Amino acid sequence: MRHTQLGRSGLKVSTACLGTMNFGMRPGMGPSSSGGFDETEAARIVDAFLEAGGNVIDTADAYNGGESERVVGRAVRGRRDSVVLATKAFLPQGPGPNDRGLSRAHLTRALEGSLRRLGTDHVDLYQCHQWDDSTPIEETMATLDGFVRSGKVRYIGCSNFTAAQIVESQWAAERAGGTPFVSLQPQYSLLARSIEAEILPVCRRHGLGTLVWSPLGGGVLAGRYRRGEAPGPGTRMARLRASPMPMARAWADGLLNEPNLVVAEHVAEAAAGLGATPAAVALAWVRRRPGVTSVVVGPRTLDQLRDNLAGLDLDLPPEVAARLDEVSRPARTAPVDGTRAGE
Ligand SMILES: NC(=O)c1ccc[n+]([C@@H]2O[C@H](COP(=O)([O-])OP(=O)(O)OC[C@H]3O[C@@H](n4cnc5c(N)ncnc54)[C@H](OP(=O)(O)O)[C@@H]3O)[C@@H](O)[C@H]2O)c1
Repeated sequence: MRHTQLGRSGLKVSTACLGTMNFGMRPGMGPSSSGGFDETEAARIVDAFLEAGGNVIDTADAYNGGESERVVGRAVRGRRDSVVLATKAFLPQGPGPNDRGLSRAHLTRALEGSLRRLGTDHVDLYQCHQWDDSTPIEETMATLDGFVRSGKVRYIGCSNFTAAQIVESQWAAERAGGTPFVSLQPQYSLLARSIEAEILPVCRRHGLGTLVWSPLGGGVLAGRYRRGEAPGPGTRMARLRASPMPMARAWADGLLNEPNLVVAEHVAEAAAGLGATPAAVALAWVRRRPGVTSVVVGPRTLDQLRDNLAGLDLDLPPEVAARLDEVSRPARTAPVDGTRAGE
């Protein structure tokens, strides 16, 4: 597997990043809507990923109530230094007003919690999971800079920030002479291309590499769902649709819409022509998009991981890539050009 520099930093990350949102089961509950599974399979996935040359593993304090971080920590024990361990903070860790967000109060406790669960003395890439409107960005960047100076964090990044939020963050860090972000973790796939308009250009300009999440649209691009048919048992969409949380059900409905399923049909058709799986074709497409540093795959099984890694190595014939580009192109991929208003 190839390794490339993460943004304007010296850190080298593999072209595949192992996403672990599926890892671990929420204490006292069965598999979560993200498909929590047993630890033996998680350990096998980590082994195979590292053996294939992957080095970056992504988790978050919020995944399965902290269980994902615990499972990852145990899986990398004894080889910690060969892994770029990435985690995130923002989402609620308790009921209190300071148990969430990007304040100094919360981030300081959140980092200690992540270090404890991961069983390590430092995080390689510490990411803000989302923007926090209620905390001045200067406070967040100064807190993160302090983590880097203390040695508990090596590099910092953000996730799901808008272009303006990225610029504000970098300028806040620069004004204070502090540590800038080196990465963004945005959603990106043939079903979600909005970052192409402004976010990717801003990342390039401001020195952020990208680790892109949900490259298979949660499995929709893997050809497992068909128009007019209910999601099959055991699939993520079936689990989300059965969730008591309205947000989870809405997320599944948003993904399983007609235009997305049409794109998935094009992917399946291209895959049949190439003798590859639809998942491999969808990953091959995203991997080669300009501005993508690493693709965060989210396998639930070892077989899925192997298929995903094969996809990242697949070279799509230019006409296939162009066709997929065309059938998935969002209505507008460039910012409005004010000088041509009225056209
Ligand atoms: N920063 C953020 O806000 C954010 C948000 C979401 C995710 N993430 C990160 O990104 C990672 C990946 O996201 P994701 O899990 O949504 O990615 P994804 O690759 O779009 O979806 C993964 C799902 O696709 C299916 N799948 C995967 N490989 C397959 C294959 N080869 N063949 C058939 N089906 C396959 C599985 O669904 P089934 O379970 O149905 O088998 C799996 O659970 C997460 O683990 C997490 O680290 C970050």
